[in-house]
Amino acid sequence: MLWKRPVSGSKQVGITGKGRDAMRMYDLIMKKRGGGSLTAEEIDFMIAEYTAGNIPDYQMSAMMMAVCFQGMTEEETAALTMAMARSGDMLDLTSIDGIKVDKHSTGGVGDKTSLALAPMVAACGVKIAKMSGRGLGHTGGTIDKLESFPGFTTEISTKQFMEQVERIGISIMGQTLNIAPADKKLYALRDVTATVDNMSLIASSIMSKKLASGADAIVLDVKTGSGAFMKKEEDAFALAEEMVMIGKHAGRKTAAVITDMDQPLGFAVGNALEVKEAIETLRGNGPEDFQKLCMTLGTQMLLAGGRAKQEEQAKEMLQKVIEDGSALRKLAQFVEAQGGDASAVYDTSLLPRASYTEEILSDRAGYIGKILCDEIGICSLLLGGGRETKESSIDLSVGLVLRRKVGDYVRKGESLAVIHANDPEKLAVARERFLRACFLEESKPAPRSFIRGIID
Ligand code: URA
Repeated sequence: MLWKRPVSGSKQVGITGKGRDAMRMYDLIMKKRGGGSLTAEEIDFMIAEYTAGNIPDYQMSAMMMAVCFQGMTEEETAALTMAMARSGDMLDLTSIDGIKVDKHSTGGVGDKTSLALAPMVAACGVKIAKMSGRGLGHTGGTIDKLESFPGFTTEISTKQFMEQVERIGISIMGQTLNIAPADKKLYALRDVTATVDNMSLIASSIMSKKLASGADAIVLDVKTGSGAFMKKEEDAFALAEEMVMIGKHAGRKTAAVITDMDQPLGFAVGNALEVKEAIETLRGNGPEDFQKLCMTLGTQMLLAGGRAKQEEQAKEMLQKVIEDGSALRKLAQFVEAQGGDASAVYDTSLLPRASYTEEILSDRAGYIGKILCDEIGICSLLLGGGRETKESSIDLSVGLVLRRKVGDYVRKGESLAVIHANDPEKLAVARERFLRACFLEESKPAPRSFIRGIID
């Protein structure tokens, strides 16, 4: 990861201090190349003109490369984020009473967190007004997963979205608005010019979309490990710190939780299978790691939303909405409000189901030492559970459910996982790939903490 932080107010190189009319992208590139700091006005100019098509890609690529080598100060990073957030629609949630809290995950395998967390937090009284995407990946995004409920739609107007948040405290809308178009354009450029892996650029890219989505407070789940964007823990911490710093500059309460993604989250990987696991979690029967994640993120959201003053109080509130069923009822209310058949919340056999299931049996005894997280995601993708291109359709019913996680013991002939498929050939491919991704060892691996840290 290229990560250099120049000191704020350090040397000023090149032509500075010009009014916007006299600014030239050439001068700004020169200034950054020489190690200077761009002013907020210069960054605003650069982003506005690039979004409008008045700065060519080759100049912006040169700037991105200069940023990778020279770094950006905190002030520059915050200014870049705000400029990108302002490049398109900014959702105004101020007419909704109370503190609106958003949650963002940097993504991973089996990440179904919003499906359980959003109703839990809403049942505790924090309003959830969330925009979500489909995206490419091992499974669909939150929207695809929610479409496992027949009839459910996120194609709702902003007006309906706001009214629903006011009425029942929760709504998730598809990204119909033009959110941070500068980031979209810039990310596509960075992707082909080897300028993605710079911490300021990654943090500003993620946070620009969050800031434009209008929440007062933001809780971030930054994943680390083989199935995460940030493979190294130190990089995950650096990204978390950078995003929390940006949130503070923008006047939004921001906290980040750094969590393990060295194996899939929970047991289920695949759209409807993950919905089922989220429902089980809302019934109090979720996998240990997933429950812990929902409790930790939920606690941060209740604190940020002003519903709890201390962590213990927040945890008790979250526990209560699981035990008294109100979190599960909130999910049903939410599904129904967006046109879905909520009976599947109470009877998960109504969710999409694959035609074939096959247990994958272990050919020997041992402890699960390692599960290659990315590979499990690819198994789901190969079964048809994810999208390789924006146009691909997605099979909501397929995927895998792990029977064992890292540290568990398995005897010869016992199941490691069950595959859900609609095509026997794809099932065979996924079985082979799964077996190559799962490593058995003679001794139990040392336990690793699931929550690596919290930054607020
Ligand atoms: N995800 C984003 O949204 N932006 C980046 O730059 C990297 C990952």
